[in-house]
Amino acid sequence: MLLRLLADLALITSGAALVLKDSVGKLPALGWNSWNAYHCDITEDQFLTAAHKFIELGLKDAGYEYVNIDDCWSDKDNRDESTSRLLPNLTRFPDGIKGTADKVHELGLKIGIYSSAGTQTCAGYPASIGYESIDAATWAEWGIDYLKYDNCNVPSNWTDSCKDCVPDSMHRDDLVNGTCTNTDGLCPPGYDFSTSNTAERFRIMRDALIAQNRTILYSLCEWGDAGVQTWGNTTGSSWRMSGDIDATWKSVLAYLNQNSFYLNYVDFWGHSDPDMLEVGNGLTIQEARTHFALWAAMKSPLLIGTDLATLDQDNVDVLKNKYLLAFNQDEVYGKPATPYKWGTNPDWTFNASFPAEYWSGASSNGTLVLLFNPFEDTRTKTASFAEVPRLEGGVKYRATDIWTGKDLGCVDGLQAAVEGHDTAGWLVGEECEASTFVSEV
Ligand SMILES: *[C@@H]1O[C@H](CO)[C@@H](O)[C@H](O)[C@H]1NC(C)=O
Ligand SMILES: *[C@@H]1O[C@H](CO)[C@@H](O)[C@H](O)[C@H]1NC(C)=O
Ligand SMILES: *[C@@H]1O[C@H](CO)[C@@H](O)[C@H](O)[C@H]1NC(C)=O
Ligand SMILES: *[C@@H]1O[C@H](CO)[C@@H](O)[C@H](O)[C@H]1NC(C)=O
Ligand SMILES: *[C@@H]1O[C@H](CO)[C@@H](O)[C@H](O)[C@H]1NC(C)=O
Ligand SMILES: *[C@@H]1O[C@H](CO)[C@@H](O)[C@H](O)[C@H]1NC(C)=O
Ligand SMILES: *[C@@H]1O[C@H](CO)[C@@H](O)[C@H](O)[C@H]1NC(C)=O
Repeated sequence: MLLRLLADLALITSGAALVLKDSVGKLPALGWNSWNAYHCDITEDQFLTAAHKFIELGLKDAGYEYVNIDDCWSDKDNRDESTSRLLPNLTRFPDGIKGTADKVHELGLKIGIYSSAGTQTCAGYPASIGYESIDAATWAEWGIDYLKYDNCNVPSNWTDSCKDCVPDSMHRDDLVNGTCTNTDGLCPPGYDFSTSNTAERFRIMRDALIAQNRTILYSLCEWGDAGVQTWGNTTGSSWRMSGDIDATWKSVLAYLNQNSFYLNYVDFWGHSDPDMLEVGNGLTIQEARTHFALWAAMKSPLLIGTDLATLDQDNVDVLKNKYLLAFNQDEVYGKPATPYKWGTNPDWTFNASFPAEYWSGASSNGTLVLLFNPFEDTRTKTASFAEVPRLEGGVKYRATDIWTGKDLGCVDGLQAAVEGHDTAGWLVGEECEASTFVSEV
């Protein structure tokens, strides 16, 4: 019976990705999470506001579906004395998490919860190590659809003596080949990170979740430790590749740079997660466009992290960009866009303030081309088709501007005056005739 249930809910075989029912986790998750907007200061109202705003602002129609509760939702001091279950904080969630879940489900949306693979969450609330089955069963009973599982407060007997697998400019082969020889010097060459205690901590919760009679997307918030990119897709649907992003341009650039080196590991059922969106939290509109465009292009989960009740229309429009969302959610092409050249720096330069500037990726409707300007001032940037993978020099293609939706007709290259920190983007479709080189501002 149990075996039949497992077979019905999820398929895991060694080396293959975690495949959940109804295609859950095949594509990057789209939703909202409380942390970047409210941190620990949460109440049910914020989640219901986000859910209603999904509908009013057209975000639900655009594909956003998860309303996710982050840290601080439970009773800080105790589990239930007799059942050992986590208890909701009834000041913050008067009808319990189940009550909030029901209200979110009534709107046709899904709900996520948070815990840590340690004794306490990052904010010091009871967490799940040793309680994985009890917690997974509790969440399933409440109607939870998504778990963000953090990496704080790991007991000493669960740590690893070697755990790093970090790309940098000194290890170009790692970057090119997607291998992991740049360990912290303590792991032997060729070390299999899936045998680490870290990987095991996250697998225990995976198995507890798939034993439930409910599909729960599993999002690893494991900070990039223990070469998670090498075992992430067999364990969860997405994995955080680093620590926490913050609402600064500097942080966005650093995460963009680092994640650009993990893209070989991304495909259907497994997404490297450079952390949640900071759109709406003080970035300029140019920075918001770059942040959203590159996160969508890297097939990152797209979790909005701002107060949707006060978000201005320009930022809402960025979050709803139909070309970028369609690229991120393409049912046919699972691979992300990647840099086809760096630009200011030589190719494969690891530089936290000057990430790769020239990007392209395949999609059902053609090739997405993004040109990013890391400088403060406006720069003219050009995409020569001879340089772009899958396109050919001397050939004309039909191109559409992803920000204006304007059909540019048949072009034999692309050029734009890109404002400081902004990103220009086009969807380059079928070959065609006529017209000349297009220059647009
Ligand atoms: C519940 O949340 C409130 C803040 O809304 C806090 O003051 C209180 O200490 C919390 N209770 C527990 C048991 O964690
Ligand atoms: C750490 O200790 C706990 C409690 O004794 C035990 O259940 C767990 O298996 C240990 N972890 C490892 C990696 O040995
Ligand atoms: C990648 O791996 C291949 C074969 O393992 C090796 O020959 C090559 O030097 C590595 N580095 C690069 C940059 O391709
Ligand atoms: C699983 O849940 C569904 C409804 O969500 C129910 O129809 C089914 O009987 C349950 N299966 C088991 C084994 O409990
Ligand atoms: C899962 O990741 C591994 C390692 O990167 C890769 O070889 C495999 O193709 C991935 N599976 C899928 C379904 O993408
Ligand atoms: C392709 O274009 C169709 C029609 O506009 C649209 O519905 C679909 O989402 C697009 N897919 C991609 C991956 O761009
Ligand atoms: C990053 O790249 C910029 C532009 O080339 C350069 O000025 C800067 O020194 C680089 N930073 C580091 C830490 O190498």
